[in-house]
Amino acid sequence: MKLLILARPEDAVATCVTVIAKALVEKPNAVLGLATGGTMEPVYDGLVQRAKAGEISLARATSFNLDEYVGLSPEHPQSYHRFMQDRLFRPLALDPARTHLSRGDAADPVAEAARYDAAIAAAGGIDLQLLGIGGNGHIGFNEPSSSLASPTRVKTLARATRDANARFFGASEPIPRFAITMGIATILRSRHAVLLATGAQKAEAVAAMVEGPLSARCPASALQMHPRATVVLDAEAAAGLELRQYYETVHPEGQETSLD
Ligand code: PGA
Repeated sequence: MKLLILARPEDAVATCVTVIAKALVEKPNAVLGLATGGTMEPVYDGLVQRAKAGEISLARATSFNLDEYVGLSPEHPQSYHRFMQDRLFRPLALDPARTHLSRGDAADPVAEAARYDAAIAAAGGIDLQLLGIGGNGHIGFNEPSSSLASPTRVKTLARATRDANARFFGASEPIPRFAITMGIATILRSRHAVLLATGAQKAEAVAAMVEGPLSARCPASALQMHPRATVVLDAEAAAGLELRQYYETVHPEGQETSLD
């Protein structure tokens, strides 16, 4: 795992945007795995800014999102379809044929999950998978106890996840109980995994992911098995890391280092 620790959340976001931008410059037709959640909002703002400045283009990229709530149509204001439309797809007028999310309103969500994994494989697999982390250690909606070999499938959301996401729903709106999520095996097949975490409420999960045992108790710990995982943190999210000094020696101020 490569640990890049930045002082402020905005620096961590900028570093994450730079990692994605580099991947797009190297491979303009990259297949991106995308994430939603509050942490990602400024990341998409940054990508839109850089694209509008002509520094990068997502026009030839293909994207697959991690997850979607079961029961929500793409038009539902709290659906991840809408999140992505509002934050990235519409601002950059991306070709809808190249932007993929699983359909939460599919008549058969189990079949939809299998179709989604097959579509990722048919696109050649994911070059760069963007990830957030839940306070309970989930990646995507792979809640604690998720099989570390899981494919894309329907998962029941943990109480902690529903509580954390309640802020996006109106007081009288039901918070979905199920989601279709890329599995841990799907995520591990990506050629580069980039996880961004900011804020003190992520410190415990980040420590468990990086330094804890490989365990379904913390699904993000599966990234210890990923051949190329980059973890970008702000100081608060890094606060629980015992070996932080080592990570900061390897990548001072979150800078990439080389052997020359
Ligand atoms: P957040 O969600 O960015 O809204 O904290 C992250 C996650 O639950 O994966």
